[in-house]
Amino acid sequence: MTNNSTHSEANDTGTTKRKHIIIGAMFRAVGAYPSGWRYPGAHHDPHDDPEVIRATALEAEAAGLDYIFFGDWLATGPDLEFRDPYLAARIEPLSAVGFLAGITSRIGLIATVNATYSDAYTLARISASIDRLSGGRLGLNIVTGAEPRAAANHGRDAHWGNEQRYDSAEELIDALRLLWDSWGDGALVANQESGHYLDPSKLHRADFRGAHHPVAGPLNVLRPIQGHVPLVHAGTSQRSRHLVHTRADLALLALPGIAEAAAVTKTLRTEAAANGRNPDHVKSLTPVLPIIGSTFEEAWEIHDFLASRVPVSPGPHDDREGFPATRSLAVLGEAIGLELAQAELEAEVTVDDAARFNQHGEHLLDLTRQRSGRIPGTARPVRWRDILVNHLVPYSVVVGTAAHIADYLQAWHEEGGVDGFNILTPFLGEQFEHFTRGVIPELRSRGLFREAYQGSTLRDHLGLTVPVNLHDATPVESTTVTGPVGAGARA
Ligand SMILES: Cc1cc2nc3c(=O)[nH]c(=O)nc-3n(C[C@H](O)[C@H](O)[C@H](O)COP(=O)(O)O)c2cc1C
Repeated sequence: MTNNSTHSEANDTGTTKRKHIIIGAMFRAVGAYPSGWRYPGAHHDPHDDPEVIRATALEAEAAGLDYIFFGDWLATGPDLEFRDPYLAARIEPLSAVGFLAGITSRIGLIATVNATYSDAYTLARISASIDRLSGGRLGLNIVTGAEPRAAANHGRDAHWGNEQRYDSAEELIDALRLLWDSWGDGALVANQESGHYLDPSKLHRADFRGAHHPVAGPLNVLRPIQGHVPLVHAGTSQRSRHLVHTRADLALLALPGIAEAAAVTKTLRTEAAANGRNPDHVKSLTPVLPIIGSTFEEAWEIHDFLASRVPVSPGPHDDREGFPATRSLAVLGEAIGLELAQAELEAEVTVDDAARFNQHGEHLLDLTRQRSGRIPGTARPVRWRDILVNHLVPYSVVVGTAAHIADYLQAWHEEGGVDGFNILTPFLGEQFEHFTRGVIPELRSRGLFREAYQGSTLRDHLGLTVPVNLHDATPVESTTVTGPVGAGARA
C-alpha cells in the first residue's frame, strides 16, 4: 500500500474500509443555484441536456469522482421557475444513467427513484439491467417524495402521508433485494454441449407479501454485478433515519452545521450497529454547493451576480404566475423580526438595522459575510436583497478559492464525521471544471482523495462489499422454483 489515504484496506471484520472522502457530482442541468442558468456562458437550455449530461459525466470521470447523481421530481409547473428551475423540465434519471452506461466506463451512476410511485418488479428489472450494462456501476437513491402533485400524475387522489410513504419505501427495498437475488450462483448453466441451460434449484422466487409491493418473482434479469445495487436514501424525518439505519448503504443528509453533522453521523453508526449492520457500511453524504474563484473577490463577484438575478419581490404579491409569496421583503421581515414592508431591495442594511435583527437575522448576516464578503457599514455593504436571497437559498453554499473549498470539505469530513459530499454546481460547465480541476487536485495533495479509481464497480469506489445472496444466507425451500416449468410459465 503506497498511500493509506487512497486505498481500501481490510479491517478486523474482514470487510473493506475506505479512508478517503467520497465525492460525487450532483447533476442539475441548468444549475443548482436558482439563477445559475442566467450566468453568461452557463448551460441554460434543457434542449441541450443530452450533450451536457455526457460532457459533465466525462469531466467527472476524468477527475476520478465516485459517481454522478441524478435527483428526480414527479411533477412540474410555473412555480418551479422561481423555486428550482432545474426541476421544471429534465431528463428522467434512470434514462440518464442508462445513457451514460455506454458512454462512461469507470464512474458510478446514481439515479433517484420515488418509492411512493414505483413498482418493485419494474424497478428491479431496470436497475439490474443498468447495473449489468454498466459493468456494476449503478446506484439508486430511494426517496419518498415531497411533491403532492405527483399523486394526480400517477392516478391517485392524494399524496400519502409520511408514515405510509416510508412503510412503502421500506417494503420496496426488501422486495428489490429479494428480486435481485432471484438468480443464485450457478443458476444459469448455458452448457452448449449438454444442452443444460438452467439449474431451477438455484432460481428463486421472491414471494414477497407486502401491503404495498407484493411480488412473486423470480426476476427475468440476472443478479446485478454488484449483487445488490447500492442504495442511497435522502430524507429528514425520524422514519427517514430508521430507513437509513436498517436498509440504506448511504444517507444523503441535509445538515445545518458541523456540530449537527457530528451528532447525526455518530447516531447513524450506533443505530446501524444496533440493527446488526456493519457501521462502516452505512456512509453519510451531504450536499455542498461551492462557488469557486481564483481569489475570494472573484468568487464573491460570481455569487453577487447570481444573487442579483434571483427573482424576488419587494412586496408579498407579484403578478408572475407561480411566484411564491415567500420571496418578498415583507415575508423576510417576519423571519428576522422586523417590519420591512417599506424597505427597498437595493437599499443598504445599516449598522443600526443589523443591531435589531433576531437570531435568524444574525445568521443571515453571517451567511452574507461568508458568501459575499459583505458587512454592514463597510465598503462592501449589505443590501436587503442579499439578506433575502441568502434566506431563500438554504443549501450549503460555500464561496471562495479552491483551497478554501477544500478546507471546508476537510473540516466537515474530519470534525463532522461526514463520509462524503454530493457536489452541486451553481451552473454548468465552468464552475464544475473549477471543482474538478481546482478542488480535486487540492484534496489529492492533502491525501484526502485517491489518485485514481481502484476498482471497477460503484461498490468498489464506496468501499462496500458484495452482499451474500439472501436465498443462500437463509435457504427457504418455498422460495425455490421447483420444476423446469417454474420460470418458463412466467416468461
Ligand atoms: C438532500 C436531500 C435530497 C433530496 N432529493 C430528492 C429528490 O431528488 N427527489 C425527491 O422526490 N425528493 C428528494 N428529497 C426529499 C425526500 O426524499 C423526502 O421525500 C422529503 O424530505 C420528505 O421526507 P422526510 O419527511 O423524511 O424528509 C431529498 C431530500 C434531501 C434531504
